[in-house]
Amino acid sequence: MVELNSFQTSGISPGGCHVGILGFGTVAAAVARRLTGPDHIPNLHLTHICDRRAREKRARQPEPLALCSWTDRFDDLLASDVDVIIEAVSGAEPALDYVRAALLAGKSVVSANKQLIAHHAAPLQTLAERQGRQLRFEAAVGGAMPIVRMLADGLAGDRVLGVRAILNGTTNAVLSRMDAVGCAIDEAIAEACANGYAEEDPSIDLDGADAAAKLAIVCALAFGARVNPAAIETRTTSRITAGDLTDARQRGFTIRQIAHANYDRASRRLTAWVAPTRVVASSAFGRAEGPENVALVRCTYAGDITIGGAGAGGDALAAAIISDLVTIARDRAAIVPAPVLVEPNEINGYPDQKLAEAV
Ligand SMILES: NC(=O)c1ccc[n+]([C@@H]2O[C@H](COP(=O)([O-])OP(=O)(O)OC[C@H]3O[C@@H](n4cnc5c(N)ncnc54)[C@H](OP(=O)(O)O)[C@@H]3O)[C@@H](O)[C@H]2O)c1
Repeated sequence: MVELNSFQTSGISPGGCHVGILGFGTVAAAVARRLTGPDHIPNLHLTHICDRRAREKRARQPEPLALCSWTDRFDDLLASDVDVIIEAVSGAEPALDYVRAALLAGKSVVSANKQLIAHHAAPLQTLAERQGRQLRFEAAVGGAMPIVRMLADGLAGDRVLGVRAILNGTTNAVLSRMDAVGCAIDEAIAEACANGYAEEDPSIDLDGADAAAKLAIVCALAFGARVNPAAIETRTTSRITAGDLTDARQRGFTIRQIAHANYDRASRRLTAWVAPTRVVASSAFGRAEGPENVALVRCTYAGDITIGGAGAGGDALAAAIISDLVTIARDRAAIVPAPVLVEPNEINGYPDQKLAEAV
């Protein structure tokens, strides 16, 4: 029998974990600054950066970062000695091909890409398991709020009944601004753009598609349910007015974009929706300001558990990504079994009345 050395068995280089970045945008730049700055983690070494505009972006970086190996060829990253690739390219395509190729090349992968994970996590996790590598995606849901780990590990001994959450920082920044100053939605969107919380066209956020992708990931983690994000009913927040918020305030409520999922395991009946919802103003949801995310997880044995934190922003996302790197570097030989997901028999949407339930 051939003796395997520690590198082959663990997938982590003996002197520490070699990290490569794919796609050098807002999030990747924040990760790179952390990994090469004074607050770096000793056994995580950023060695390679791959970006389609590598030459141009490298020229703008300070010394430690500029000294990494920069390339515009993904094959260079695959051929390098990096143990983990951080996939930080926006959009599900071509990220899927990149992540698949990275796993096949024996690299573990960390991704913040909710569209990729919502649509393709299961086959990628199976591939990762087969390759003896890890696919981690804490940053894909809830930003710095560690809901992925909480559902996958922290609550693995419980049985989750339902999750109700604010999962889109952009929409929360818009609604909480309208709430605070009584401005129109366009003004609040312009301000969210100026603060870097929103894209110029935030319709994917306001219409609920972004939160639906994240809710589909939550359904897999919380219930073991395979849900296509397109099967989750969404209602747009774009028609909420300052008047709606004033009216809600006068009754002790406010309005937030809520992602809701309840699952009955016996009947495999899922209720899942994303919609602007009236919430009690003094609740954790009502108090969520700016790009904050909040999740309330209803458990069979532990009761209700609430977490919250920054749902967007480079530094917040970087913290979640680096947590995944730390886990991979620490649990170097871990084989993470791909979850077994079950298709729900029935998926119900939003209840009939407008701005339905109060939390
Ligand atoms: N920013 C946040 O607060 C936040 C929150 C939650 C999740 N995320 C997720 O984190 C990931 C990165 O987000 P980000 O904010 O850093 O995005 P970003 O600033 O737009 O950066 C995206 C990077 O991907 C590259 N890219 C885009 N399309 C590509 C393609 N077809 N081929 C090769 N490279 C491509 C871009 O290159 P160019 O510069 O040449 O365009 C850029 O380097 C995304 O999956 C996003 O959904 C971000």
